[in-house]
Amino acid sequence: MSSNLRLKLPTPIDYFGEMSSNQLFIKRDDLTEVAFGGNKARKLKFFLRDALSQKADCIVTYGSIQSNHCRITSAAATMNGLDVYLVQPESDNNEGFNGNQFLNSFFEPKVISTPLNAVANTIEQTLQGLKLSGKNPYFIQGGGHGDLGTHAYKLAYEEIMKQEQELKLEFDYIFHASGTGTTQAGLVAGKHINKKSTDIIGISIARNIDRGSEVIKDSLLSYFESNNLSVPRNLDVHFIDEYIGNGYADVYPEIMQTIKEVARTSAIFLDPIYTGKAFYGMKQYIDKNQLNDKKILFIHTGGTPILFNYAEDFKREFK
Ligand SMILES: Cc1ncc(COP(=O)(O)O)c(C=O)c1O
Repeated sequence: MSSNLRLKLPTPIDYFGEMSSNQLFIKRDDLTEVAFGGNKARKLKFFLRDALSQKADCIVTYGSIQSNHCRITSAAATMNGLDVYLVQPESDNNEGFNGNQFLNSFFEPKVISTPLNAVANTIEQTLQGLKLSGKNPYFIQGGGHGDLGTHAYKLAYEEIMKQEQELKLEFDYIFHASGTGTTQAGLVAGKHINKKSTDIIGISIARNIDRGSEVIKDSLLSYFESNNLSVPRNLDVHFIDEYIGNGYADVYPEIMQTIKEVARTSAIFLDPIYTGKAFYGMKQYIDKNQLNDKKILFIHTGGTPILFNYAEDFKREFK
């Protein structure tokens, strides 16, 4: 069943410039379209299609009030006439009504706030309540995690392969922000399935290396099994946790500096939680490992609305 969710694909790959004598390119997944786009839009396309094929009449998912995934889910569901229920941990931040929270409000999702430790129960209760009232809810894991999300980025890897042919080059490295690990699992699946040797490096935005790598491996196993594909002997998961700082949403000065530099050199905006952290981590990795003469691709996974939440922080930092 087709859904009313048209992404602008392929997203462009642009030459960014030289970085420590490497050639850096940027893939603009922030330009997929659908409510400011991003990697969550690629994933949502498949979840929405699945929901519609199951004749769902509403969608239940979860994420923080500033979640990119919640913004895209609300947009995609609303455009397709489905109600959306967002289970959100009670927030202790008082950043104000802006960024994703503001954009999300246009779609009028039904927000169910709950203490962080009660999220799982609240999701269960919400789903049961909807079913009891005669609804047919479709559940999407936070961040668009799951085989369909992995599939979206397996296809994105193949999209990159086609663009490599057009550009007459092969990328030695792909860097991107890694959160739930689904984007990375999809890219790595694409690499294995197509027998390529690209080093795909996920820069963690929160998880430590053990947990992050394990979840990505689990996603890969699940994807290979559910698609009846043989599992490669050595799953090549390269996940780095050195640039997290003090955890999720820890925005340290080097990240703000990186965001400012990227904006000034390319007029491309990154955000402090995902792409800014990943771009900074990539720069550090390139220098630390003395990469040179390589072709490197950075995937801009979107999330630009988050930048607006940090206006005051930037003002303070650069006063
Ligand atoms: C802008 C952005 N980039 C990257 C990620 C990480 O993607 P994944 O959860 O698939 O690892 C997220 C997830 O929240 C995101 O919002």
